[in-house]
Amino acid sequence: MNKLKLALLGGAAVLPVGAMAGELNLICSADVVICEKLVSEFEASHSDIDVNMVRLSSGEAFAKIRAEARNPQTDLWWGGTGDPHLQAASDGLSAEYKSPMLDKLQDWAQGQAKVSGYHTVGVYSGALGWGYNTEIFEAKGITPPKCWADLLDPALKGEIQIADPNSSGTAYTTLATLVQLMGEDEAFDFLKKMHANVSQYTKSGSAPVKAAARGETGLGIVFQHDAVAQAVAGFPVGVGSPCEGTGYEIGSMSMVEGAQNPDEAKAFYDWVLTAEVQSMMPDAGSFQIPSNASATPPKEAPDLSTIKLIDYDFAEYGSSERRKALLARWDAEVGSMPIE
Ligand code: G6P
Repeated sequence: MNKLKLALLGGAAVLPVGAMAGELNLICSADVVICEKLVSEFEASHSDIDVNMVRLSSGEAFAKIRAEARNPQTDLWWGGTGDPHLQAASDGLSAEYKSPMLDKLQDWAQGQAKVSGYHTVGVYSGALGWGYNTEIFEAKGITPPKCWADLLDPALKGEIQIADPNSSGTAYTTLATLVQLMGEDEAFDFLKKMHANVSQYTKSGSAPVKAAARGETGLGIVFQHDAVAQAVAGFPVGVGSPCEGTGYEIGSMSMVEGAQNPDEAKAFYDWVLTAEVQSMMPDAGSFQIPSNASATPPKEAPDLSTIKLIDYDFAEYGSSERRKALLARWDAEVGSMPIE
């Protein structure tokens, strides 16, 4: 509850003269556990600010901010893949802000800020791959895939889950990665063939590997750190890193243009970029690479130097035109196919 309201209800003037209880309306697009941890840590260190947080997948968050453009209800958007944050920047939905923390960040996080005219910034990073249930694979005698091409193996029929790229940044990163690796027509051809093995397109990006961990499906195409999180939690999950190369995310943060609580948004923005806060992420089961150069990367985080990363073109795939066109094509050619 708002601390001002609490004070009034209690009938006591507990707030010092001049103190105002502030509010922050936050969209969080990473895992709900880290979202809740950030909110409670922030409120504990900023007792004058109440945070209203909603967890939405990256594409859903973008759609909400776009829908509210004339009357913004959101102040700050933390986390989720960078592409929709870049699209928000190019559509004029996010505000320019140069945090005093900027020069403490890794080059890739500062690069994300520069490419957007300082309308967004990198908060973490992680590579795409998959997680699979080792017990299911063993019981069914399926060989764990090593390459994107292996995902077309008929032995995987009904075993794959991946999210819908309209709602999920993870799935959009997969789509954009395949287009960059193979060429657009070949990537759609691949996705249409892989569809024969897909049992479900989920809303949230990490849901497929959570389902694999619980034994509800064999394999989920997700960020590798999301597969690691399930393994660390004790589930029989193996992590796959595609042999042809793979894409990665620059998880990002943006302040909303016309936000009602810009000061509170800036307070969270600067705080969440500190090494101290970013070093806490593994405590909430989040194993991305932090963007603050002095933050301690989680020891469990997939080692990006051993993963074959493509030279992901964030500006191109985060542009409004490209993202809209790829999603429309996915709807027409993949999303519309019946699930057998
Ligand atoms: C998970 C990952 C994050 C990623 C997010 C995207 O939470 O841990 O690194 O940014 O998924 O979510 P989405 O639901 O949009 O795919």
